[in-house]
Amino acid sequence: SETLAIRSSLLRWYDENSRDLPWRTPSVGAGSLLTPVKVDEEQRAYVVWVSEVMLQQTRVPTVMGYFNRWMEKWPTIRDLSSASLEEVNEMWAGLGYYRRARFLLEGAKSIVDEGKFPRSASELRCVKGIGDYTAGAIASIAFNEVVPVVDGNVVRVITRLRTISANPKEAGTVKLIWKLTRQLVDPSRPGDFNQALMELGATLCSSTNPSCSKCPVSDHCQAFLLSKKSQKLKVTDY
Ligand code: ADE
Repeated sequence: SETLAIRSSLLRWYDENSRDLPWRTPSVGAGSLLTPVKVDEEQRAYVVWVSEVMLQQTRVPTVMGYFNRWMEKWPTIRDLSSASLEEVNEMWAGLGYYRRARFLLEGAKSIVDEGKFPRSASELRCVKGIGDYTAGAIASIAFNEVVPVVDGNVVRVITRLRTISANPKEAGTVKLIWKLTRQLVDPSRPGDFNQALMELGATLCSSTNPSCSKCPVSDHCQAFLLSKKSQKLKVTDY
């Protein structure tokens, strides 16, 4: 079916083209070259949480420096939970939206107090500062829960794939995008699938100048197929 074809093309593209980012390195924040350790899912969740909160407001190249400094200072959620608000704000300086840094600290304290990381998107949403986006990212990437993640890039990709012309800034449209993405997530590799969709939107499926000829899912993209049929329509109309 079409859904299966989109999943496999997108994942193959991601396997061959995904950017090498520090928060994707499985060992970040734990062990060393001399003492390798198996990184557990909760460590992975901490790393995904910090990186995704930083990525909500800042581009990848800038986030890399902040992320690496953060992980050097607080390699685990336990380390973060004993930091002071002043230290956290100092580390965050230049990223903006300082509320997010405070939520990370308060969330870390409450999770360490509880003694375990919430593992599902719905439990994660109960942590202050964790919304649908961050909950979906942590649950799918760290804990393999089959849930969608929708950011601005995913909105654009899905809008084109399905030729949705409704205003993407309206709540109803975004709700529809979440629903369509939920139906598309690959049940065997939800975290990779979500990152592939975000990465496609951040790279090939750009807003003004998409590289459709290189796109792994152009055969399944309604906007691309329509624009080929009609000279009046462009992919960027969606
Ligand atoms: N943008 C935000 N988070 C991302 C991720 N995990 N992978 C790719 N792009 C992203």
